[in-house]
Amino acid sequence: MTALITISDDKVFALTNRAFSYVMRRAQSGILEHVYYGPPLGSPLEIDTGRRNVERGCTVDYEGRPAVNLNETLQEFPCYGTSDYRYPAFHARSASGHSVFQFRYKSHRVTSDKPEIDGLPSARGGASETLIITLEDPYQNIEAQLSYTIYEAHGVLAKSVKVINKSAAAITLQNIFSSTLDLPAHDYTLLHLQGTWSREFNAERLDAAKGRFVIDSARGTSSAAHSPFLAALEKGASEHHGRVYATSLVYSGNFAMSAETSEFDDVRILAGLNPFDFEWHLNPGDSFSAPEALHVFSANGLGAMSHIWHDFVREKISPPHFKNAPRPSYLNSWESCYFDVDENKVLALADKANDIGVQMVVLDDGWFEGRKDATTSLGDWTADTIRFPSGIAALAAKIKSKGLKFGLWFEPEMVSPESALFKAHPDWALHVPERTASLGRNQLTLDLSRPEVCDYIFEKMDAILSCGDIDYVKWDMNRAMTEIGSAGRSDGRDGQNIAHHYMLGLYSVLSRLTAQYPHIIIENCASGGNRFDLGMLCYAAQNWTSDMCDPVGRLDIIHGASYVFPPDVMAAYIGPSPNHQNGRVSSLKTRYAAGAFCAAQGLSLSAVDLDADFDALRQYISLANACAKDRMGGRFDRVLKTQNETAWQLTTADKSKVSLAYFQILSAPNLPVRIVRLAGLDPQGVYRLRDDGASYRGDALMQAGFAMPYSLLGHPRSGVRYRDSGDFASHIFVFEKVSGS
Ligand code: GLA
Repeated sequence: MTALITISDDKVFALTNRAFSYVMRRAQSGILEHVYYGPPLGSPLEIDTGRRNVERGCTVDYEGRPAVNLNETLQEFPCYGTSDYRYPAFHARSASGHSVFQFRYKSHRVTSDKPEIDGLPSARGGASETLIITLEDPYQNIEAQLSYTIYEAHGVLAKSVKVINKSAAAITLQNIFSSTLDLPAHDYTLLHLQGTWSREFNAERLDAAKGRFVIDSARGTSSAAHSPFLAALEKGASEHHGRVYATSLVYSGNFAMSAETSEFDDVRILAGLNPFDFEWHLNPGDSFSAPEALHVFSANGLGAMSHIWHDFVREKISPPHFKNAPRPSYLNSWESCYFDVDENKVLALADKANDIGVQMVVLDDGWFEGRKDATTSLGDWTADTIRFPSGIAALAAKIKSKGLKFGLWFEPEMVSPESALFKAHPDWALHVPERTASLGRNQLTLDLSRPEVCDYIFEKMDAILSCGDIDYVKWDMNRAMTEIGSAGRSDGRDGQNIAHHYMLGLYSVLSRLTAQYPHIIIENCASGGNRFDLGMLCYAAQNWTSDMCDPVGRLDIIHGASYVFPPDVMAAYIGPSPNHQNGRVSSLKTRYAAGAFCAAQGLSLSAVDLDADFDALRQYISLANACAKDRMGGRFDRVLKTQNETAWQLTTADKSKVSLAYFQILSAPNLPVRIVRLAGLDPQGVYRLRDDGASYRGDALMQAGFAMPYSLLGHPRSGVRYRDSGDFASHIFVFEKVSGS
């Protein structure tokens, strides 16, 4: 491996691989300045590092140094109080009450072992180098270790920060961002992913205007309101062109990301823990580790950006046990039976699943003691003795004996006020004494900042999973946190940090469970995509993308999620029509097509629907099973997006098969014939369309494009491809590569 990190004698630090260069320098002031982030440079250490020093009127010279005006210095770890007036990465209160800090270079080291982050998930190392630069505030004796990991084969830069109090007095951290990306002046457009329950991941663009644009969460989960993802696009950047600087976080709780355009048009991107309601006491000798931030640079637009994220999620985030492993198709009991489940029903569903060709039965909510609706029993994780008299282990064994896999739903972080657990431990729920606790879906959140609560969750789940016949767990989390207080921290210290302690507790339970049961697929869910983030994906091989199973509702969700997440981690099933979330009636064909590229697929339909559509479902499931391998490790491209149309392309990892899914939402007369340019093909290759055997050259499909089916009522003419008429139409074209390199 050629060196990825080079360092000059006068402390210019350059991280370079085939995708990007990232350059910093120790300035004379000792401040670690940001110099460059962009396409790889041949000699990054030779870059002109001093070009930004300008004399201006009306500015403050940092510590009396002429032309060192921190307010327009690109920095790696900016602080408040010494002439930078932008939002800082670090802000703390000293024992004497002031909040003036400034860090200077102290030392550095390079390692090929990517260090883990205390208590937090992070991207795996391997074929990478990590530069750890230690900064210190000499007045306060506080150290900050900034870690930068660059990979040989990935266009991702991983950053994290650890603060160590080496002084004799406590300080209080008020904000500690994991990463600062100071981008030089340019016209930027910001892209972020916003939404709500059942409408997650709507991509939204806005111009970076003077001031600060913030996305964050104070809900205790990363949340569907704002996914922890923010990209700055050089104006005009599109799916295939232009520079993109994207940031995400390996964290699942209260986060904040901001883009601040300064008076000189520089843009500062900050990413990390939400400073709101955060205050961390750092005693002498203590350290604090902030979650990992990941950056992707793409010189070729959003499509290339997504490819970098997708490869990285597969290689360095997802649990390695399931890498490229085709996911079993499943029949989930939720929209089939809701809470009305019992052993006989589940066994009957299993028989039906078997007949249809489904490979796994997932028993969703409703299986545990007394759980007949959403009002009771969360926390009591033993099978309901009336409805499941022989218990879960016996049911699992019966299902396995039919040749099926078996999966089970848990909502481990929750407790119903009406439950044995709550009666025994009312103080185990997050709460503030003397205040009425707010219920969400009739339930309270357990206090995972307490180790005994984490132990309880582990033991209850272990008791069920240890039967050995459970292949999959759906890990749900169905409410945002309120009254975030803990009886476990009654000394009043750290009162504001329960939300972060909670995350550390959650990650500890997930680490224990995944270590004990590495072969169990965890499907992460939080009422759908309410906590679909890179932190949870370190433990969960797949994610229930959304409760929205209507295909039209799902298009934007998959489209938006795909900016960061590969289809390898997405789960989708064919749900009922009319859809239970928005009432839309749609064909089975389009319901299948909307999820056709998601790794995990299946059904959640009533016994009546299963019978009514039996033959068609058999066909779709047989297709889903046959293509399960195609959906792992492939290349996903967003090739068309208009208000009324969407098209995605999925190319298998071996490049032998290219699928193109096209959706037209509303029908109308006289629409344009839409031409879609395919991406990433072999220009000399020949591709045969399965529908009619026609052959196309790769370069023609990429440059001239391929005409989408035309919507028409009346008499089709020969030579023109017509689609089904009517609303919510879809078609999946499959091309097989028949020759080429
Ligand atoms: C959440 C999930 C659903 C289902 C229900 C069960 O809403 O998103 O898929 O599991 O909980 O209560």
